[in-house]
Amino acid sequence: MNFNLPRHVAIIMDGNGRWARLRSLPRVAGHKAGVNIVREVVKHSLSIGLPFLTLFAFSSENWLRPKDEVSELMNLLNFYLDNELPKVFEDNIKFIVSGRIVNIPSNIRDKIFSAVENSKNNTAMTLNLALSYGGREEIVDAVKKLLIDYNNNIIDVENLNEKIFSNYLYNPELPDIDLLIRTSGEKRISNFMLWKLAYTELYFTDTLWPDFTTVEFETAIKDYLKRKRRFGLTDEQILKGI
Ligand code: FPP
Repeated sequence: MNFNLPRHVAIIMDGNGRWARLRSLPRVAGHKAGVNIVREVVKHSLSIGLPFLTLFAFSSENWLRPKDEVSELMNLLNFYLDNELPKVFEDNIKFIVSGRIVNIPSNIRDKIFSAVENSKNNTAMTLNLALSYGGREEIVDAVKKLLIDYNNNIIDVENLNEKIFSNYLYNPELPDIDLLIRTSGEKRISNFMLWKLAYTELYFTDTLWPDFTTVEFETAIKDYLKRKRRFGLTDEQILKGI
């Protein structure tokens, strides 16, 4: 076991549309092929003992895509919940979601809530799906919850700090992200997990998501292991363990 392994890996699964276009297929074919990679990446994460995996499946901005594509993506999510999640549970994986789930159609939302409830005591790994997710929205939602607590005298402004604030984010149990992988050659954060990405190591690859393999996943992790993480400190301080 390598104790320097990342605890929390997040992936922006980009390039499904381009993968489909290269094959003269409809965009949804790319998303469908993408689900197969999700399965492989979850399996691999489990096998290396990764504690937390976050996958960006649908952004708050994705609602603005053509209606047909949005509904295809919702169908695919529905398919994932019906067909893939039972396997995830068998592997003792805890399933959680980040995002404004209230915007997801109610039949799918119910399945999400029951999956979260049914897997809440699983311990092998936590799989977090970012759905209807926006990083700025997450921060605004946290501030709203915080203000409610402030009005109820639960929060004291003088003592407010980063640790307390982070308890108001979508899943307080999710640690900061150690490694972010983005496929398809784009080098952007795209409003993803803004708070938890503060000190994250970034790994960008030109590979389109449906072509992403566990071999490349391993390459990304090996690359991460070579990075020097200083969190604003000096090398000497890190060596001394300050
Ligand atoms: C970005 O590719 C990908 C998405 C917007 C959706 C990601 C969805 C999946 C991988 C499949 C669904 C997953 C689950 C877990 C249900 P893009 O469409 O922006 O590609 P492009 O940039 O090449 O057009």
